Amino acid sequence: MTKLNTVAVVGAQFGDEGKGKIVDLISKKIDYVVRCQGGNNAGHTIVVRGKKLVTHLIPSGILHPTVKCIIASGVVLDIKVLVEEIEALEKLGLDVKKRLFVSDRAHLILPKHIDRDKNNEISKGKNKIGTTNRGIGPAYEDKVARIGIRAGDLLDKTVANKVLDKEYLKCAEIISPLITDTQSLINDIVFKGKKVLFEGAQGALLDIDHGTYPYVTSSNTTSAGILTGAGIGPNTLKTIIGITKAYITRVGDGPFPSEYDDKNAEKIREKGGEYGATTGRPRRCGYLDLVALKHAILLNGLTDLAITKLDVLDGEEQLQILIGYELNGKKINYFPANLKDLKAVKPIIKTFPGFKSPTAGTRKWDKLPDNAKKYLKYIEKECGVKVKYVSTGPERDDTIIL
Ligand code: IMP
Repeated sequence: MTKLNTVAVVGAQFGDEGKGKIVDLISKKIDYVVRCQGGNNAGHTIVVRGKKLVTHLIPSGILHPTVKCIIASGVVLDIKVLVEEIEALEKLGLDVKKRLFVSDRAHLILPKHIDRDKNNEISKGKNKIGTTNRGIGPAYEDKVARIGIRAGDLLDKTVANKVLDKEYLKCAEIISPLITDTQSLINDIVFKGKKVLFEGAQGALLDIDHGTYPYVTSSNTTSAGILTGAGIGPNTLKTIIGITKAYITRVGDGPFPSEYDDKNAEKIREKGGEYGATTGRPRRCGYLDLVALKHAILLNGLTDLAITKLDVLDGEEQLQILIGYELNGKKINYFPANLKDLKAVKPIIKTFPGFKSPTAGTRKWDKLPDNAKKYLKYIEKECGVKVKYVSTGPERDDTIIL
């Protein structure tokens, strides 16, 4: 039996946890990066030779010249966006097409889905979800209704001519050579012992089944979504790393038990640069919610935690962690499914002293201020999952590996 070299990276909050940085860090030693669900609602800001670029579909692993990237069957694919990303990366001198594979089973996002997404939001009025307006939900709707068009269908010119306009037909021509049976490819590389990184998109609390429904995205954002989205068995994932910020943010509407008041939110937003990579929207900010994090740990079967943006908490006099919810006068230790309950919970808070000296740029555990170590150790002990990475700044090397 070949030794498996697989690792999954998933968001343990509402997305935007800084998965891109951890993926980028690990990708150096990886042969393949696989994107499994969601679509161009996700966004990675990457910097190449001083130029800033945001990719929404192609994994940031593409920046490493030996890494191959796979867009697997669970992704919903806007081929126009994909072509734009390929061309932008090629302009930076990267050889993309030889290293990118697109699933023949991935469902397409077409202009009609984007229109429907926008109209759905307008019709919901003040109950809108706050989607990214990229057509994600409607494309998954058509998939589940069994009326979707898949990337593989585009290889048949008659189908392509029927469903695509001129602009999309051109894009289909460009990506056709990349379309392949990724499910076979992925299983082949996994069982050959290649180093494969499965990259989740969004976060556990936006999961269609287990998140804050209906304020969620339309796919399974947990490790289960990686399995179905890539077409692999549950025993193929060896390590599952959950990414959480040292605090928590959310874009879009929906309940948020540990949300800061406006003043504190504004402070963290500015310090942490908390604006959406896809839509530019200001992110809502709060203090770390351990009930939600434990929910994410169970949903994903996390083996490791990566805690990002610790340095954003530098300079705070006092820190808070939400350690429990109180509902109708009783302490509860689960993440309620019912939105009314989730909106009604009162946070039970534990207060920690501020770090006193800065953590920014720290690359060794021993160099962290004692109060930062205590803060991290508390999270690890409460969650029962090893903290493997601590990120202390935007640079790849501003990371403590434990
Ligand atoms: P949709 O995925 O565009 O349908 O949006 C549904 C909800 O998920 C909205 O609240 C979005 O803001 C949120 N969302 C979708 N993708 C991301 C992401 O990559 N990061 C953070 N939030 C996201």
